[in-house]
Amino acid sequence: MSNDVVNFNAGPATLPRPALERARAELLDFDHTGISVLEHSHRGKEYEALHDHTIALLRKLMGISDDYHVLFMQGGATAQFAFLPMNVLRPGESADYVVTGNWAKKAVSEGKHYGNLRVAATTEDGGSFKRIPKPEELKLEASARYVHITTNNTIMGTQWHWLPDTSGVPLVADMSSDILSTPIDVSKFDLVYAGAQKNIGPSGVTIVIAKKAFLEGANTNMAKVFQYAEVAKANSLLNTIPTFGIYLIRNVLEHLDQRGGVPAIEKHNREKAALLYDAIDEDPAYFTCPVAKEDRSLMNPVFRLPNEELEAAMVSEAKDAGFIGIKGHRSVGGLRVSMYNAMTREGVARFVEWMKQFATAHPA
Ligand SMILES: Cc1ncc(COP(=O)(O)O)c(C=O)c1O
Repeated sequence: MSNDVVNFNAGPATLPRPALERARAELLDFDHTGISVLEHSHRGKEYEALHDHTIALLRKLMGISDDYHVLFMQGGATAQFAFLPMNVLRPGESADYVVTGNWAKKAVSEGKHYGNLRVAATTEDGGSFKRIPKPEELKLEASARYVHITTNNTIMGTQWHWLPDTSGVPLVADMSSDILSTPIDVSKFDLVYAGAQKNIGPSGVTIVIAKKAFLEGANTNMAKVFQYAEVAKANSLLNTIPTFGIYLIRNVLEHLDQRGGVPAIEKHNREKAALLYDAIDEDPAYFTCPVAKEDRSLMNPVFRLPNEELEAAMVSEAKDAGFIGIKGHRSVGGLRVSMYNAMTREGVARFVEWMKQFATAHPA
């Protein structure tokens, strides 16, 4: 984010400015080696130290124990939709999916090529996905290999603020759009995956946190690059990894650590979300948030104006005022203001003031 532009893009998204400035300062000479990090071999000791340090930082920030592997993979969360059932679903087994948005739906449609995936609950309700299901709506099978949830629904603007009781069935989560935004107890999950391009760094790297015990007996009849156990055995260096992406993740995680880690960023995220949601709730005749209040996302607040013409005008005038990326996803329309960890409080406060002025200048 430059000082003049406030970037509310949903992902790739704004990154912490100090992490980018550090990359600029270090670009031509990494760690006094005389060459750029872009030019280092992924097999060299300089890169390897960076790689291991980045994993250690993630372990520290998320409290990940040695019972878990921390992997860097490629193909985004979309590839994980397939890798997960490919690895852990054995013949005759099924998995339960809680479908709370477009990405959760895709997790099922892409994954079902590799096993029997059941929809244990859906809040599609004719296409709207305006809420997270209630605990009693989950029709979970005791024999399921795992239960899959999407902790934050980037397009719909909803977020799980509680975890389902799976009665001992392993819980798996797509945390692409809220990882590292609030403290989580990793021990409650058997596997977590997330594309890096929202809270962690640039696109091109996918984080996988997998309980070692969950991978026992996993399938091996596929190429190594798809197998969690093989990627783990190679410390995520099975092939040429996106080294610059990992370098930037290092910068983002060190910056997060310096500013107080996940508990500090959660406070910051709650303050930003409150600024926006309060402005919406204060003027219900003009602004409406279509999602259930208790399920509102801290990362991707969505809202509507009285009509689509006003929404289009807001997107266009916002851009002129220096606020970019507020158009809702094409599948749902409306407005979406993505505010990941790197979004500043000042950026949101400026937008909220501007949004109120817009409402005054454009009465319904
Ligand atoms: C929750 C969620 N899951 C999955 C994806 C797909 O991620 P990728 O583009 O990294 O495959 C996204 C992308 O925005 C997302 O927000």
